Amino acid sequence: MKNSVLTIQKQKDEHDKITMLTAYDYSMAKLIDSSGVNSILVGDSLGMVMLGYKDTLSVTMEDMIHHTKAVCRGTENALVVADMPFMSYQTSVYDAVCNAGRLIKEGGAQAVKLEGGVAFAPHIRAIVEASIPVVAHIGLTPQSVNAFGGFKVQGKTMEGAQRLLDDARAVEEAGAFCVVLECVPAALASYISDRLSIPTIGIGAGAGCDGQVLVYQDMLKMFSDYKPKFVKHFADIGQGMKDAFASYISEVKAGTFPSHEHIFEISEDIIGILQ
Ligand code: KIV
Repeated sequence: MKNSVLTIQKQKDEHDKITMLTAYDYSMAKLIDSSGVNSILVGDSLGMVMLGYKDTLSVTMEDMIHHTKAVCRGTENALVVADMPFMSYQTSVYDAVCNAGRLIKEGGAQAVKLEGGVAFAPHIRAIVEASIPVVAHIGLTPQSVNAFGGFKVQGKTMEGAQRLLDDARAVEEAGAFCVVLECVPAALASYISDRLSIPTIGIGAGAGCDGQVLVYQDMLKMFSDYKPKFVKHFADIGQGMKDAFASYISEVKAGTFPSHEHIFEISEDIIGILQ
């Protein structure tokens, strides 16, 4: 069944945890979608895990549309959410609506995600008024890495915790149908989740959120540049891939690959009359 903003809200209402994973291409989207995950996020994390940048700031609208199209082609059931990249919405409410529209019209996503709380409530409201569902993202918002002075846990002080609660209420009030809480103390994330009627999706925010999201390269140990504290390796696919590449190299060198089952035949007679 195709998931929608309604099925995601129903999950919160029925205390059925929401699962979200990132994907950035067709093959991975197909695999993840077939697992039964509720939502696929085409995150701007693609800048780091797919394109090798040190942060998400260089990701463009064209990058996001390109990857969102591929993911949508591979997804039947999961709700596809596309990230709005840095400077695609910060510049004005008008830009926010236009660029959100591009991710839906050109990319094929069903919803967009943008980072920011109180300050971005007008942008969220305008996008929602254009009939585009919005996932908000508060706490550690990676597009603000320079303003934060690094990738740091948010909401640990009295003022920080109050600011986060205010942000959560502001994005709900502006019409976001869901909010990602990134790198927030678990007790605060739980407190916020209990006070919002829209679902919270946590990443580094504990099990009290209404759902969880992870970057697939992190959970499969395919990305080894660093490991955030909140990441769990559910499998070591990275090592599995390295082993497979090593086997390929040794079989090619030994002449055992390709073997008979992998080749196309031709009659010896034809080979015999070649000049
Ligand atoms: O870009 C991304 O993958 C994200 C998740 C980490 C929430 O925003």
